[in-house]
Amino acid sequence: MPDDRPDAFLARRDAARARLDDLTGGKGGSSADRAEWFRTVYREAAGDTAAVPWADGKAKQALVDWLADHPGQGQTALDVACGLGDNAQALAEAGYTTTAFDLAPEAIDWARSRFPGSSVRYVAADLIELPPDWSGAFDLVHECYTLQALQEPLRSRAVDVLAGLLKPAGRLLLISRVRAEGAASDGPPWPLSPSEWRRFESLGLTLVEATSYEITRPGRTIPHVRAVFARPA
Ligand SMILES: C[S@@+](CC[C@H](N)C(=O)[O-])C[C@H]1O[C@@H](n2cnc3c(N)ncnc32)[C@H](O)[C@@H]1O
Repeated sequence: MPDDRPDAFLARRDAARARLDDLTGGKGGSSADRAEWFRTVYREAAGDTAAVPWADGKAKQALVDWLADHPGQGQTALDVACGLGDNAQALAEAGYTTTAFDLAPEAIDWARSRFPGSSVRYVAADLIELPPDWSGAFDLVHECYTLQALQEPLRSRAVDVLAGLLKPAGRLLLISRVRAEGAASDGPPWPLSPSEWRRFESLGLTLVEATSYEITRPGRTIPHVRAVFARPA
């Protein structure tokens, strides 16, 4: 079992970051390089969540807070690029009939093994080649930290795909790092500018809620947004 005392966990995370940054795709590149890099992250972690830089071992607080006021009551939810499954589990526990997918089969297998008996349907799938019957199929689409991990032209294609997954009156919940319009970004991740995260509006969705907040890390604060868009009924 990995040593999960905070210092040991952080030391392994820092070491993993340094190692992963040096691999092909770790600092950007073609979509094929990035896809292979994500798979490598999960494979090389070998069961240690400290070695998956975005894995907190729990659902993101911005999602947990939103779910407290928006229970699912059996509605369908899709967790986009679910990683190790913590956010998907939170959606299911809040009453959503939840499907969760990730490009990396290694992440899907790991999520299934972390949550045996889960009601979540975990699926390995690429965001830009989703099953056709997912189009217009979900009451809630939850996207956390995926768009910011993608570069153009994939980022714009992903926005198009996500907008198309909603049922009439369905909602899209977006959680992302953000940057000022025109500000440089030295990713990954590459925070979204307002014109990027608000592009859902040009695809027929209405912005119904946007909360700006910061996450504090040693020596820096990281601006975020949690935004909800709705498809017309
Ligand atoms: C930064 S992680 C975020 C994971 C999770 N959403 C979270 O909040 O912890 C980005 C995830 O996107 C997945 N991913 C990257 N490109 C993808 C694609 N084209 N289709 C589906 N998943 C993708 C990666 O495998 C990775 O699990």
